[in-house]
Amino acid sequence: MTTTASQEAFLQAFHAEHPAVTAEAFGRGRAPDGRSSYELLRDQVAGRRRVLDLGCGDGLLLEFLAQEDGRQLAGLDLSRHSLALARRRPALSGARLEEGRAQALPFADGSFDACISHMALMLMGEIEQVAAEIARVLCPGGVLACVVGGGAVGGEAFDRFLTLLRSTIEEAPASQRIPALGDRRTRSRDGLDEVLTPAGFAAVDWESVPIDLSGPVEQVWAAVSSLYDLGPLDGRTVERLRTAFFSEVRDMTTPEGTVPCAFNVHIATAQLH
Ligand SMILES: C[S@@+](CC[C@H](N)C(=O)[O-])C[C@H]1O[C@@H](n2cnc3c(N)ncnc32)[C@H](O)[C@@H]1O
Repeated sequence: MTTTASQEAFLQAFHAEHPAVTAEAFGRGRAPDGRSSYELLRDQVAGRRRVLDLGCGDGLLLEFLAQEDGRQLAGLDLSRHSLALARRRPALSGARLEEGRAQALPFADGSFDACISHMALMLMGEIEQVAAEIARVLCPGGVLACVVGGGAVGGEAFDRFLTLLRSTIEEAPASQRIPALGDRRTRSRDGLDEVLTPAGFAAVDWESVPIDLSGPVEQVWAAVSSLYDLGPLDGRTVERLRTAFFSEVRDMTTPEGTVPCAFNVHIATAQLH
């Protein structure tokens, strides 16, 4: 199997078991202005009528996009299990929802005014091919807008979780480690420019926003433990990680029982020439 094929096989297997994991974990996250990262992305493409969501998962972002009247919406994902949930959303009854790969889009040239992607572009292999496909299906002047993960804010529960996770994974047998996913260049402005410029995009606009996920410890654990890395770990190892996490965040829990937790997202937008 090629590297990309094994990455995609891993993603498909993971989402067969957890088809709505990202929306459940991050849908309630809030930026300082009160919007979720899904709403921040929705607002990047306001007024654009024909919109494609790449790696649409269970369709939460498409549902936000459907709030604007007269839109033609499409979503594409590797996971038929996630798409099955998207198809159940009444707001998406008119949307074209396709199982497929971002590297080979089943859409005609110039058929979208915008392409969006929430926490998915950073997972995709053969990223130059993805960029070329996005450019092909966008009309001239079309825009790509995506949210990619930017790691922990620091000094909060996600930061402590990542430290615990790193040592857990170092000790785990190789069979319980996930394949390296995606292309690191999608996680920085310069890297994304390097990928998108040859495909015909203007320079990327880049903004970093902290997303607050604070809450009761069980809720924070549910969010942080939704990371792909936990998928192949055996039950006992996950239980040990959970116990260590609960003890690690005790000193930062407020008297009301809130554990401070946040992660950064980068919002990247680029216009096709
Ligand atoms: C972290 S989830 C995010 C799902 C959704 N966008 C959200 O934020 O709720 C990443 C999604 O991207 C999809 N994905 C990853 N690589 C893909 C590819 N090459 N082509 C299509 N979908 C892909 C996965 O199947 C998964 O549903």
